[in-house]
Amino acid sequence: MPQTKKNTLTEEKKEIAQTKSKQSKKSAVPELPQSVMVEKAKPVLNLLRGFKDILPVEQKYWQYIEDRAKGLALSYRFEKIDTPILEETKLFYTAVGKQTDIVEKEMFSFANQGGENVSLRPEGTASIARAYINHGMFNLPQPVKLWYWGPMFRHERPQSGRLRQFHQCGFEILGEIKPVVDAELIIAAHALIHSLGLETVIQVNSIGQMSCCREKYKEELVNFYRARRSALCDTCKERLNKNPMRLLDCKEPQCAALRGESPQIVDYLCDACKDHFMKVLEYLDEINIPYTLNPRLVRGLDYYTRTVFEIYLKGTEENSLAQSALGGGGRYDLLVETLGGRPTPAAGFALGLERIIAKVKEANISVEDNSKVSIFLACLGEYAKRKSLGLFEDLRREGFRAATNFSKETLKSQLEIANKMKVKITLILGQKEVLDETIIIRDMDTGVQEVVDYKKTVSELRKKLGMIE
Ligand code: HAM
Repeated sequence: MPQTKKNTLTEEKKEIAQTKSKQSKKSAVPELPQSVMVEKAKPVLNLLRGFKDILPVEQKYWQYIEDRAKGLALSYRFEKIDTPILEETKLFYTAVGKQTDIVEKEMFSFANQGGENVSLRPEGTASIARAYINHGMFNLPQPVKLWYWGPMFRHERPQSGRLRQFHQCGFEILGEIKPVVDAELIIAAHALIHSLGLETVIQVNSIGQMSCCREKYKEELVNFYRARRSALCDTCKERLNKNPMRLLDCKEPQCAALRGESPQIVDYLCDACKDHFMKVLEYLDEINIPYTLNPRLVRGLDYYTRTVFEIYLKGTEENSLAQSALGGGGRYDLLVETLGGRPTPAAGFALGLERIIAKVKEANISVEDNSKVSIFLACLGEYAKRKSLGLFEDLRREGFRAATNFSKETLKSQLEIANKMKVKITLILGQKEVLDETIIIRDMDTGVQEVVDYKKTVSELRKKLGMIE
């Protein structure tokens, strides 16, 4: 900035005079170019159904959950992993199961330019198991604890709590078979939602392992439903042959009504699976986690073995027809092996973030806004604006949460913004202050203004804000 103060002041005066003359002309109606006046309105392009923008006003809710998820990950020693949104379709086909609703009806799948069949990920666990194998994570000290956060895609019928693009935050533990891991995950899921101010109830069940307990159970289940075939919805009639466990998950009222009478898998668990389940429940009892046994909880993904669970807001867990599970998870001891890896027992859970945010809003939980600032820096005139650029950077470096708006010229418009932002202090720097090497500190609650030595700006702010920055 090579100019002298005197020169700059003369320019400043010129500028003020020019601004005044511009303002006097302002009342004239601006003429639009001919082309603009005759052009027809273009049709507005809209979002796809079931997709949502997350607007700036919503961000504080996302930040609120992410901060707590990060905190939980840190204390439970989960490491963050990001996997791609697009994967080979075969991954989900093999992991989630080709006869599940997700794979059969809900995937966004297409052939890419290279002719590969790819899909937008409908969930995160399959990718985690793939990454575990691809990166040789079995060579790391076991168990490997990973967490993730990101968008998932399912082509479902959009409704409240059900989107086609939604977000999950997931936690997975790979390489440990002990039931204490299942309990640890349930406790972590409960702790995370509790830290948001929501009360949950966790429904728990064990669906055993394939050969030792589930085959026998499936037979009994098919017998039960076959005897009531005429009462089933068309999809469940098909499920009878293709995937009988899914009969228990049907949301159609006529099928849901039969569920209460159906055989319970716990009665068919082998000793080892029963023992595993009992231990999980004992651990949960030990620290008083609010859970209920749901002997017909099976979950909609084929990779589960033994423990399965779903997380509900307290008071909504009875309404099984609503889209109300805030999260779900369970053990998947065979998944890594199914995808070509070494035998690796594992378990995990994922939370549906849109559903949780909806509940946080419904419960009127006050969510701190990290973007909130306490200082607004107003500047008047070109020279003050130049000086403010540096001052703003100094404030930021000193750790203050400050805001400014260099495109606004008048003090009135800048104070309006400061008021809207509900800042505590506005710093005002005009040409007089620049010349005097001072700055005005305005208390926005009382309107009292104080002129202070410019060099003392930071220390005065610290005093006034009581070191809360
Ligand atoms: P999931 O039960 O399919 O499990 O999904 C977990 C959560 O994601 C649900 O409880 C729900 O809150 C949310 N969610 C699912 N679909 C939608 C949707 N269409 N719109 C809005 N939210 C939705 C899994 O995805 C497993 N991968 C969880 C897991 C991790 N199991 C072991 N590890």
